[in-house]
Amino acid sequence: MSVLEIKDLHVAIDDKEILKGVDLVMKTGEIHAIMGPNGTGKSTLSAAIMGNPNYEVTKGEILFDGKNILDLEVDERARLGLFLAMQYPSEIPGISNAEFMRAAINARREEEDKISVMQFLKKLDKKMDLLNMPEEMAERYLNEGFSGGEKKRNEILQLLMIEPTFAILDEIDSGLDIDALKVVAKGINEMRGEDFGALIITHYQRLLNYIVPDVVHIMMDGRVVLTGDAELAKRLEAEGYAGISAELGIDYKEEV
Ligand SMILES: Nc1ncnc2c1ncn2[C@@H]1O[C@H](COP(=O)(O)OP(=O)(O)O)[C@@H](O)[C@H]1O
Ligand SMILES: [Mg+2]
Repeated sequence: MSVLEIKDLHVAIDDKEILKGVDLVMKTGEIHAIMGPNGTGKSTLSAAIMGNPNYEVTKGEILFDGKNILDLEVDERARLGLFLAMQYPSEIPGISNAEFMRAAINARREEEDKISVMQFLKKLDKKMDLLNMPEEMAERYLNEGFSGGEKKRNEILQLLMIEPTFAILDEIDSGLDIDALKVVAKGINEMRGEDFGALIITHYQRLLNYIVPDVVHIMMDGRVVLTGDAELAKRLEAEGYAGISAELGIDYKEEV
């Protein structure tokens, strides 16, 4: 079992404090969801966990199996088994989707244990089938010209191929129609198991009907303000952030 522990994490962007002390512990075998209004710091949290250098950690720790990973670069964190599906995946012209995934898989393997082209293609075929993805998407340049929905589906393909220990999925459901949402959920559920943990960031409860989380966190104004089980997401859907924040005595203004 692996543990990812975030302790009193403070993060600043251009000297402005965005995360104001986030505490969160997740273990493999668990699916966590983070919900929260716009601008609350959810994407900032995911970027900080993955080690994006634009996000300055000013206080706190991120521990992977007890070891502080804050000094590690993005690629080193990926090799440890962290994976981030970004809210806005970037386009990387010149590198095919398949090449990217094969390199990412091999980066986590020892020299004598690299995945062969045959093994890779077999696995790719199987996973693309599961996600109803057309074959040609593997050969296209990474995310270049992909529609919003294709990008999201492709992030899930990468997840299934790379098989990280912990995945952070930032608004993997945004912009998806109901069929695409179900496919994305199917992919994530396929990963479920004792060697895998996920942190699913979402605005809406909808995705959580298909991927039932073990733990739900509500984040507001740079902090996790409430943690509960799957029922909490339903309560939030009914009461809204305004209702929940009023109960907690948090100052919250709804965006108009
Ligand atoms: N690159 C950036 N430069 C400046 N401010 C940023 C940047 N990224 C995020 N912010 C600010 O940080 C806050 C949190 O943003 P974000 O983490 O994207 O929130 P969420 O994902 O919860 O909607 C917002 O006020 C946003 O404007
Ligand atoms: Mg965001």
